[in-house]
Amino acid sequence: MKTPRAFYQPLAIGAPAPWRELPVRLERMIHFVPPHVEKMRAKVPDLISGVDVVLGNLEDAIPADQKVAARRGFIQMARDNDFGATGLWTRINCLNSPWVLDDLNEIVGAVGDKLDVVMLPKVEGPWDIHFIDQLLAQLEARAGVTRPIMVHAILETAEGVKNVEAIATASPRMHGMSLGPADLAASRGMKTTRVGGGHPDYTVLADGDGTSAPRGAFQQDLWHYTVAKMVDACMSAGIKAFYGPFGDFSDPQACEAQFRNAFLMGCVGAWSLHPNQIDIAKRVFSPEPGEVAFALRILEAMPDGTGAVMIDGKMQDDATWKQAKVIVDLARIVAAKDPALASVYGL
Ligand code: GLV
Ligand code: MG
Repeated sequence: MKTPRAFYQPLAIGAPAPWRELPVRLERMIHFVPPHVEKMRAKVPDLISGVDVVLGNLEDAIPADQKVAARRGFIQMARDNDFGATGLWTRINCLNSPWVLDDLNEIVGAVGDKLDVVMLPKVEGPWDIHFIDQLLAQLEARAGVTRPIMVHAILETAEGVKNVEAIATASPRMHGMSLGPADLAASRGMKTTRVGGGHPDYTVLADGDGTSAPRGAFQQDLWHYTVAKMVDACMSAGIKAFYGPFGDFSDPQACEAQFRNAFLMGCVGAWSLHPNQIDIAKRVFSPEPGEVAFALRILEAMPDGTGAVMIDGKMQDDATWKQAKVIVDLARIVAAKDPALASVYGL
């Protein structure tokens, strides 16, 4: 294991010093764009003000014969636009693919100073993060990039889930992690063809009453264990957890339920693969106005965060003060970007 001092040394001469604290950014949705499609690239200028993160996808869903076009399209869209406070990310191809070296080499060389985060798919263990950490440092140094590019891992293999804590703490470059339910289902041998969400056969059956009356069946959340494990690994390492894709665009209700479960469990955002998922993510990952108002009352009633008070018959103490602070801190970040919500929150 590296010593504390070495952990914060640049990994190449001339590379920027690693982040000690993550930059504060609102990342309720990571919006996926296929950069090889000119029509989609043309929408990016309008997209920037409507989403928190624009991600150029180079990996799965991009046909093999379009990989080079996607990479070049991403460089083009990075050059052509000013992203302001909106994040610019790319999902590169996985480390055992023939494209990844050129993805990193060409993108960091051309637009490394505009790139916030590289999303790395199919991360199996800390060794994958160490590899990309070193390579990014070399490329940053060569290109004269002054702000370290962060790494976001997709948690989508059984081995990755097993090693999730070591992945989260592998480098100060780690920004966070997303659950990748499609690849994870395949890697684990789960018997579902869905991309995220529930499954009608994953249920708990209510007790029978000894007759032939039909018994209630209650659908359970297939992703609960993994999301919880990911949130603990991320939050204990001071990085962010995200739910990933929800593949059924025809079912916005189920998408919203999946996103909300993730939000309640500690995730800060999710992927939007379709325009109708942008507003869902905005709604879900911005704290609910009633909760913000109540949280503000708790903070007001306990100015130094100690002691115990009753509000509307509910006990408040140091722990609920911290819960309230999580909600108010998030509301302030949302309010800074979204004037409509700022006035709803009264911030
Ligand atoms: C995302 O990449 C997934 O596999 O779900
Ligand atoms: Mg995947």
